[in-house]
Amino acid sequence: MGAKHLNTIPTKNAKLIKWVEEWADLMKPEGIYWCDGSEEEYQTLMNKMIDSGVAKKLNPEKRPNSVLFRSDPSDVARVENNTYIASEKEEDAGPTNNWIDPAALKETMRGLYDGCMKGRTLYMIPFSMGPVGSNISKIGMELTDSEYVVCNMHIMTRVGTKVLEVLGDDGEFIPAIHSVGKPLAEGESDNGIWPCAPIEKKYISHFPETREIWSHGSGYGGNALLGKKCLALRIASVAARDEGWLAEHMLILKLTNPEGAVKYVCGAFPSACGKTNLAMLVPTIPGWKVETIGDDIAWMKFGKDGRLYAINPEAGFFGVAPGTSDDSNPSAMRSVDKDTIFTNVALTEDNDVWWEDMGRPAPGKLIDWKGNEWIPGESDTKAAHPNSRFTAKAGNCPVIAPEWEDPAGVPIDAILFGGRRPSTIPLVHQAKDWTHGVFMGSIVGSEVTAAALDLKAGTVRRDPFAMLPFCGYHMGDYFAHWLKIGTKSDADKLPKIFYVNWFRKSEEGKWLWPGFGDNSRVLKWVFERCAGKVEAVDAPIGFMPKAEDIDVSGLDVSAEDMAELLSVDVKGWINELDSIKEHYARFGDKLPQELTDQLAILEDRLKKA
Ligand code: OXD
Ligand code: MN
Repeated sequence: MGAKHLNTIPTKNAKLIKWVEEWADLMKPEGIYWCDGSEEEYQTLMNKMIDSGVAKKLNPEKRPNSVLFRSDPSDVARVENNTYIASEKEEDAGPTNNWIDPAALKETMRGLYDGCMKGRTLYMIPFSMGPVGSNISKIGMELTDSEYVVCNMHIMTRVGTKVLEVLGDDGEFIPAIHSVGKPLAEGESDNGIWPCAPIEKKYISHFPETREIWSHGSGYGGNALLGKKCLALRIASVAARDEGWLAEHMLILKLTNPEGAVKYVCGAFPSACGKTNLAMLVPTIPGWKVETIGDDIAWMKFGKDGRLYAINPEAGFFGVAPGTSDDSNPSAMRSVDKDTIFTNVALTEDNDVWWEDMGRPAPGKLIDWKGNEWIPGESDTKAAHPNSRFTAKAGNCPVIAPEWEDPAGVPIDAILFGGRRPSTIPLVHQAKDWTHGVFMGSIVGSEVTAAALDLKAGTVRRDPFAMLPFCGYHMGDYFAHWLKIGTKSDADKLPKIFYVNWFRKSEEGKWLWPGFGDNSRVLKWVFERCAGKVEAVDAPIGFMPKAEDIDVSGLDVSAEDMAELLSVDVKGWINELDSIKEHYARFGDKLPQELTDQLAILEDRLKKA
């Protein structure tokens, strides 16, 4: 017979109980524990990990209720090459996803799952992406053998009994299966070592038709906290396509002007473009305020009034630590003052954390993310892994907007797209209409600086809508879905779409724009465009600000640099056309005609300019 239940089964949902028990029969854990999401549960599991040596309790005077984990060096980031969209037909996954036939993949993974939880507990995590009970939210069930995953899910999602109450006896859920893939032999323990499987046994699999997630072999971040990238983006993008809404890799912020008027803004930027910083920005223009609704994911649905309403499906931030400082993001720094799980940052001698570009020098000798001694000025490696993370409660963020958990969501006025573009792309331009905005989203990209990616430096790596690693179906169909959304409401009710670029450089390689808090100057223009307060220039690439409409009071940027930031680089854009054509060619006949038309219109306007 199967594994025993270690606590009372807190649901009568027969489908759910059968599902857990069948998996337990295959995975063979010591027992099944149903998570209730309580503080006591979090502390018990955390203490278990501290006692076993996989977690290090941090100095409670400096970092109350916080811990540090060091993962295995093979398990430090999302593993895109091991991430699969296993749709029935290969063409439905499209050219930008890894595909394996779902039946074959399930057979392989069942083999890996057989006995994979020996010596461990199977934790059953009922979770809600989005405020519990909101009609935009979705319920997921993650079964896992990782206490690290349970504790992170407590912070990143809403976990426990309240979710089961909403599920009821016959409610639907998205099943998400996870194992670190490291069974324990009789008497064996992890012995302070992060459990995971070697790279060839890591699989992060999505079955879009049956809306299932199967993950094996990794305990880290988006590979293992299955509510985030797997459910809230890859599976949700498919649900959104079928149900007429949007699941996007976007921050959500609330922008208030000095008169107290509010606009809500979403923004899609490829990973590592400062989304968390923008979501928590401290404006440098007096009287303006930014508050955070979310820093990574937005789900948007039409309200009865025809506007798009967004919720943040997450409850915490899984942010990159290096580069986060009191200068770049003081609100993120306050969010991690307590109640935080750190992964792969460095440890100080007084049991606090440190990372590169934290805004202060290492206070002395450190233990680096690999567990080795690290001496400032001597060690030539990074003390914190470049992808080291903090898991922090959104509720601990000092600039979290009071309505961040409103089940109705917030009405979106503007959508920003952007990437790292040292050349060509101006500071800001606005789409003429929704279709033009979809065109802008489809060409998002960042310029490659490191040769490491096997691309020539200066090449633009396209990441349409910043969704390349996160779209659960063919990107060409995804573009078509965005176009269709634009036909579902009146043009004046849809968000206005903008393309921003904080990363423009001069020919000599100097940043032209200071970025960070000064990005509020661009947000102000966006706000005023949405409020119908400022006219714009009708430029070949879209609507552009008049120079006098970007507030430069107190800003140390020369008039020439401002002129360059706000001009259309016709020659650069003509070169850009070729790169867009090459990018579009990947999508074959799934590329919507409207986008080819947009490209032709742009080409025509540039040639006449
Ligand atoms: C993330 C990412 O971790 O986009 O949010 O990679
Ligand atoms: Mn992200």
